[in-house]
Amino acid sequence: MSPAPARRTVLAAGGGLALGAAVAGGAVALTRDGDATTPVADSGAAVPFHGAHQAGIATPVQDRLHFAAFDVTTDDREKLVRLLKEWTRAAERMTAGREVGEGAHGGLPEAPPDDTGEALGLKPSRLTLTVGFGPSLFDGRFGLKDRRPGDLVELPRFPGDNLDPARSGGDLCVQACADDPQVAVHAIRNLARIGFGTVAVRWSQLGFGKTSSTTPDAQTPRNLFGFKDGTRNIAGTDAAALDRHVWVGAKDATGGAAWMAGGSYLVARRIRMNVETWDRTPLAEQEDIFGRDKKEGAPVGKAKEHDEPFLKAMKPDSHVRLAHPDTNGGATLLRRGYSFTDGTDGLGRLDAGLFFLAYQKDVRAGFVRVQTALAASDALNEYIQHVGSAVFAVPPGVRDADDWWGRGLFS
Ligand code: HEM
Repeated sequence: MSPAPARRTVLAAGGGLALGAAVAGGAVALTRDGDATTPVADSGAAVPFHGAHQAGIATPVQDRLHFAAFDVTTDDREKLVRLLKEWTRAAERMTAGREVGEGAHGGLPEAPPDDTGEALGLKPSRLTLTVGFGPSLFDGRFGLKDRRPGDLVELPRFPGDNLDPARSGGDLCVQACADDPQVAVHAIRNLARIGFGTVAVRWSQLGFGKTSSTTPDAQTPRNLFGFKDGTRNIAGTDAAALDRHVWVGAKDATGGAAWMAGGSYLVARRIRMNVETWDRTPLAEQEDIFGRDKKEGAPVGKAKEHDEPFLKAMKPDSHVRLAHPDTNGGATLLRRGYSFTDGTDGLGRLDAGLFFLAYQKDVRAGFVRVQTALAASDALNEYIQHVGSAVFAVPPGVRDADDWWGRGLFS
């Protein structure tokens, strides 16, 4: 098979050992080197696919999201393994800005093309593809029961949850993030196409505006309530914090779950935001609800966004006070969510909200701990409702061209 052409010149080589910086068109594209993750400055550049950890977690947050959860529709373990290998090869190509297989028009005229074609001519756009395995994958169909990590827990039901089963769960997930929405959608579509007969899309979510950042020096994005979101998040360059809170360490991944070393756990929550009610709420009340001011994002009583919050100055039911690590035994999440609007709810209101994504090494000590506090007393609860939920074990990175998503799990 002859290699398909690159969609566009790739700034940073896809190899895991790519070192240093490539300079093209005035932009500096830094590459991942082992554990260290450095920002890619050019939004058109490629993010290396290979590495100790999957890209799309600590790497800089792109502007757009297409997230898909899949059900496996076969009981054939070998078929599933074949799919994961094919997905990995396709992901290597797409993240490097290349077409899948023989491309959109290079193959036999009698056969459908390997690539669906809508990303032809587009830049790699910092596309990252991150795969995860849901608890239901370990139900016995694939002989993985004793491989299920003890930490891959089903989330408890929280007060106020109004979860739609059709927008929850999934055997597998793929998080596609890119600066160009067409590149993210193309990636999910092509993976779904490759998976035809083995997996089916269970639900999917588009996100248009990042609501968090892993690059603290960059401007903090705003959520649909108009507040800066992601101010106090784990920086993608803070290796110590990532090891402490995000990456599963070798000694945490014991027994049948040894394959998770270098991975992480992802909690996804579709959170509806009642923007119409919020927009009729006085500014002072809005600021009390978060415990930060709207313009600067500074915590109550402080002047600057990145000033350390003084929690006791905030209302006891303010979001930041309740979510802060000091209130939750040190629990710290890497948030990576996106805003969404999906038409209307049929009652004249936007179906809008936050597609909340959080990575952590321990779901019970992480999301469950923080959400237990928030669900009980967060003043924000009057304006939001959790309507979808899923949890996934996210394996470590694909090391090189012989490795594949899930090799450790299935070997
Ligand atoms: C629609 C729902 C939500 C909205 C609009 C929202 C918004 C915000 C905003 C504006 C901040 C302050 C800026 C910042 O530090 O990022 C914040 C902080 C935070 N939120 Fe949320 N959030 C939501 C849901 C959640 C959920 C479900 C969790 C976790 C269970 C969570 C965890 C946190 C954490 C850990 C912080 C940082 C607290 C600190 O260390 O100061 N948020 N959120």
